[in-house]
Amino acid sequence: MNISEFIPQEITKEIENTSFTWQTPSNIALVKYWGKTNPQIPKNASISFTLNNCHTITTVDFQKKSKSELDATSYTQIDFDLFFEGKKKEEFKPKIAEFFKRVQAYCPYIFDYKMTINSENSFPHSSGIASSASGLSAIAMCLMSLEKQLNPALENEFINKKASFLARLGSGSASRSIEGPLVVWGKNSSVEDSSDLFGVKFNKKVAAIFNNYQDAILLVDKGEKQVSSTVGHNLMNNHAYAKVRFEDANKNLENMAMILQNGDVKAFVSLVESEALTLHAMMMTSHPYFILMKPNTLKIIDKIWQYRVENESNICFTLDAGANVHVLYPENEKESVNAFIAKELAVFCQNNQYILDNVGLGAKQL
Ligand code: DP6
Repeated sequence: MNISEFIPQEITKEIENTSFTWQTPSNIALVKYWGKTNPQIPKNASISFTLNNCHTITTVDFQKKSKSELDATSYTQIDFDLFFEGKKKEEFKPKIAEFFKRVQAYCPYIFDYKMTINSENSFPHSSGIASSASGLSAIAMCLMSLEKQLNPALENEFINKKASFLARLGSGSASRSIEGPLVVWGKNSSVEDSSDLFGVKFNKKVAAIFNNYQDAILLVDKGEKQVSSTVGHNLMNNHAYAKVRFEDANKNLENMAMILQNGDVKAFVSLVESEALTLHAMMMTSHPYFILMKPNTLKIIDKIWQYRVENESNICFTLDAGANVHVLYPENEKESVNAFIAKELAVFCQNNQYILDNVGLGAKQL
């Protein structure tokens, strides 16, 4: 697919005022995206589970500008207001303004409207859970709902693909927050139709053990991110181990594609944990270097490993670019692992806080 296919050719309807609400999920990568080139092209392919409970709900109101308003700004001004949990949030605006700038060539209709964005997350803000994936995918879906009203001939498949394409331009991982339960983003030979431009559903038949997989998110550190993802990704430029990492990640994705189909859960555990530790190893070996794990992150990992051996469990962990731990386990271990988390891991979380989640199916219009 060529990017020019995302530039609307036809606007067949006049729409004055309209409004859409979308709920879009967060996701957790099994094979990580870490390293990119402009414009938001990943250095390696990644795959994630879409989450069910961690999501953003966003409403965008579109109000058509008058001709005089449009004339006054030469049809080139993007106007929006942003509210988060009911409060105006000027500090969130630059990221969204940058997003609109990056998508304007593909959504030229945004110049015609004054947009009011109202957003809220199901998870506590500044819980250390990245909200950029769910946040930007929600706005992308609202834009695509407007585009569908302007051009009713658009098909759902195209809408999801373009929404993922737009979301990617806001935040790479957001491209994986449109569909579910598993999404691949980045060109990889083992996944037909995979692309650097948008996420695609992992369409092969997945072994039963991976259905309704569980993810408990342990909130070890709820503070602001120590390293923004843009800074983090940039550290992969001129990184001594980058080339090997990108090759490995692509191989890991090929292996993960097989594991998901053959149900080799032991191989899953070892690949997922290795990916998480490799991501952190990249940060520890960049210049400047960072340790994003906290002492409690390591205590949790140690407990998980102990529990796995003692209970012949398939529990494992993964990490994003922070100290929080995602504990992953099959549905058939839900009761025992949830009890273990409550009894032995919650003490390592800030205010004993953690979120029980499971794999979900993607964006929903409300
Ligand atoms: C460690 O998607 O937040 O979570 O494209 O700069 O917005 P930007 O980065 P972002 O990076 C996420 C990185 C990660 C791994 C992953 O989700 O694959």
